[in-house]
Amino acid sequence: MSVSDAGKDKPSKNSELSFQEPSQVDKEKRQFLVTATAAVAAAGATATAVPFVGSMLPSERAKAAGAPVEIDISDIAPGEIKTAEWRGQPVWIINRTEEMTAELPKHNGRLSDPMCEITSQQPAYCKNADRSIKPNIGVIVGICTHLGCSPSAKLEKGGDMGENWTGGFYCPCHGSKFDLAGRVFKGSPAPTNLVVPPHSYIDDNTLVVGIEAEMEA
Ligand code: FES
Repeated sequence: MSVSDAGKDKPSKNSELSFQEPSQVDKEKRQFLVTATAAVAAAGATATAVPFVGSMLPSERAKAAGAPVEIDISDIAPGEIKTAEWRGQPVWIINRTEEMTAELPKHNGRLSDPMCEITSQQPAYCKNADRSIKPNIGVIVGICTHLGCSPSAKLEKGGDMGENWTGGFYCPCHGSKFDLAGRVFKGSPAPTNLVVPPHSYIDDNTLVVGIEAEMEA
């Protein structure tokens, strides 16, 4: 048999190896790639899952920021105001005198929304003449509805606000004026009344801002 014929009839040991060994190597490579790919996929899934779970768990600070706030109102003398904080916003609590309360309906004609028709600006139980649960206690978010400045309290009649001023709040940014119930005067750039937040009372001296009152509108 010639050298060339021997090569045709019977594969050499080397040729068997050269056919079978790569197949074994391929299997091992394939197994390695499958394992490695699964490991990378699992790592990716973990990396994705951790921030997602984290984002669903509010921090203690975030929970505290949205929590209701209890406020002692026993130290607010008639005619005075106190500022609390709720959800990072200033909330005014004003103890209106009888004279202040009596003044409110007298200037309805000068107001943009005297009857509180824009319902987003106060809870239904505060859609009344003084925008409050107790006629003397006003609870108002102290942020101007124009561009978000904090108005100044100008509680006294007249003074530097002019002789027609019956007491209220003045925003120095662009001149918006609000009365002692937070209702906006016509001609102000602020489009709506100041916001009255949800609130209720635990007892005569304890106001809670952030919890709705259980009462009929
Ligand atoms: S932000 Fe108050 S008047 Fe503009």
